[in-house]
Amino acid sequence: MGSHQAEHVSNGVNAMSGLIPEQVIAEVRERNDIVAVISEYVELRKAGKNWKGLCPFHREKTPSFNVNPEEQFYYCFGCGAGGNVINFLMAVENISFREAVERLAERAGIPVRFENGSPEKTQSGSEKKRLLELHRAAHEFFQNNLFGQSGGLARQYLTARGIQGETARVFGLGYAPAEWRGLLSYLERRGFSEAECLAAGLASEGRGSRCYDRFRGRLMFPVCDGRGQPIAFGGRVLDASQPKYLNSPETLIFTKGNNLYRLDLARRGFREKGFAVLVEGYMDVISLYQAGFDNTVAALGTALTEYQARLLKRFTQEVVIAFDGDAAGEAATWRGLEILRQQGLRVRVAELPGGEDPDTFIRTYGGRAFEELLNKAPGLTEFKLGTIIRRADLSTVDGKVAATGRIIEVLAELDSPVEQNEYLRWAAGRLKISEDVLAAELEARGAKAGIENSSRHRISSKSNNRGDGKDRDGSRKALGVRRRQPSGLQGLSDIEAALLRLLLHHRQLIERVKQVLYPEDFRHPVAQRAMECLLACHEAGHLEHGAAVFDYVKDASVQQLIAGLLTSRTSLPPVQTCMHYVRRLQVMHLKDDLKVLEDQIGQVEQEPVDGRLVSQLSNLLIKYRQLREEISRGIRT
Ligand code: GTP
Ligand code: MN
Repeated sequence: MGSHQAEHVSNGVNAMSGLIPEQVIAEVRERNDIVAVISEYVELRKAGKNWKGLCPFHREKTPSFNVNPEEQFYYCFGCGAGGNVINFLMAVENISFREAVERLAERAGIPVRFENGSPEKTQSGSEKKRLLELHRAAHEFFQNNLFGQSGGLARQYLTARGIQGETARVFGLGYAPAEWRGLLSYLERRGFSEAECLAAGLASEGRGSRCYDRFRGRLMFPVCDGRGQPIAFGGRVLDASQPKYLNSPETLIFTKGNNLYRLDLARRGFREKGFAVLVEGYMDVISLYQAGFDNTVAALGTALTEYQARLLKRFTQEVVIAFDGDAAGEAATWRGLEILRQQGLRVRVAELPGGEDPDTFIRTYGGRAFEELLNKAPGLTEFKLGTIIRRADLSTVDGKVAATGRIIEVLAELDSPVEQNEYLRWAAGRLKISEDVLAAELEARGAKAGIENSSRHRISSKSNNRGDGKDRDGSRKALGVRRRQPSGLQGLSDIEAALLRLLLHHRQLIERVKQVLYPEDFRHPVAQRAMECLLACHEAGHLEHGAAVFDYVKDASVQQLIAGLLTSRTSLPPVQTCMHYVRRLQVMHLKDDLKVLEDQIGQVEQEPVDGRLVSQLSNLLIKYRQLREEISRGIRT
């Protein structure tokens, strides 16, 4: 028991919020009305006791996003997003738990006190604030210069590239004059020290520790956080000199791989257009925006990171990659595809003609043509197969074999047998080999995967790993290809849902239930984690109301489950039925165990007899059956 509890606690606030004390979190929640906070992002209308609006987390035309002012949580009936005010801010701004608490504290005028180690933490907080102020000031300087006297060349450059003044303003473009201490003296006049400019990466240190401006004679592109505040800069030369771009180094407020260029602007576009366009360059984003494609972001001159893909997933379901039409662009596209797909995003690829990037394409062929490119952008599979075939040397046997191998890999990744068949036929046609041959290859590969799979199942039923149970009935489908595990809330039993719902509404039941039921007694992994969170919250004495549990919830599926249970409109089962559900859950388990046991006995009986094992197992079986009887009787009474 002791170790179970230790685990729950480590899943909870300690791990998530670092050192922010419980009372502060509670106070932050109390003093930030969820309706007021969400109203800053979503237009809410009163609907009965609740408030309703268009969900900021998925695309919809009729509002299914609900905010419950009484219990202070939100829930979307469309996409299942849900949580309390802290979760909302985390999701909508894509920030950490700590950051969300800090921002809400600031909003409510609560000084965030940290338990031990406070000086250091608050110091880094104020350091960040100072860095943001410095970037704001620098941004002003760059903008003043672009639109002032010294900006003539830069303005000419923009005009030559077809960027209008209005667009330059929307993107906050600026100019760093060709001086050694232009920005530095401006910032010093504004009360910033040389050391601060160095730390911000806006100045460099020369010989004799003399400081000078890092960006000189460059067109400046501010890189912004989710709130549109500049946190870094990219600077482009106005001619063909090198390096073409100079970017801010990473600082306390800027991590390259964690940002997407102008996500703050594109977020609304994602929702309106229903997808994101991912490009390589700053200029591509700007050029496309100006042509009406306001749903475009870029990956800040690095290969797309997993973090960036997750960031996109927060705001959209579909991404169209529009990288440069060259070898480097194609390689980046392949890598990007995988990373995006792994986050569960639908991915398509806009194939640009050789030598073009989105910016040059749109200036040469116009917005219509780009629109068409987006519309006919092939999906992941089509793109992959197309590229493999295009690159293959089909005139030699070796070439054909190699291409076939790669095509099989792609086909094997597909979940749907129908899709698999479609593409198989298509690929066979293009490769000029018979469908049967290709199907046989695929089957051979699938069978191999199937064998690996079934041996894993055997191990898992031996160790009686309950979370795995649903997969036990084997999963070799049509072409023998491995299928993915169901995710989300599929397979959650009514019993588990009812029990969790009771516990959420009648907190006093938890004491009793936790004596007889461990989280791992829930069969569904999401229910298991929900129970862990509930216990952690309860142990911390934090469970004043059901929605408080959201402070302990880390993953989206648990959030979704709990929000769904709190929102459910069906009538709540009576309190007295709680233990009844507990027992039914236990029986469910025993039934699972029995089934495994019976299977094992069946297997052992087939094989050359090991008498001792058979009798051991049989005894176990009898005991289990008795137990099941006893508990079942308990349920009936
Ligand atoms: P233009 O040449 O002005 O059209 O720029 P672009 O935005 O199309 O850039 P490009 O496609 O050449 O490069 C894509 C991105 O990679 C840029 O937006 C930069 O973020 C980054 N990048 C390009 N060149 C350099 C460089 O020389 N140094 C660094 N650090 N980054 C670069
Ligand atoms: Mn370009």
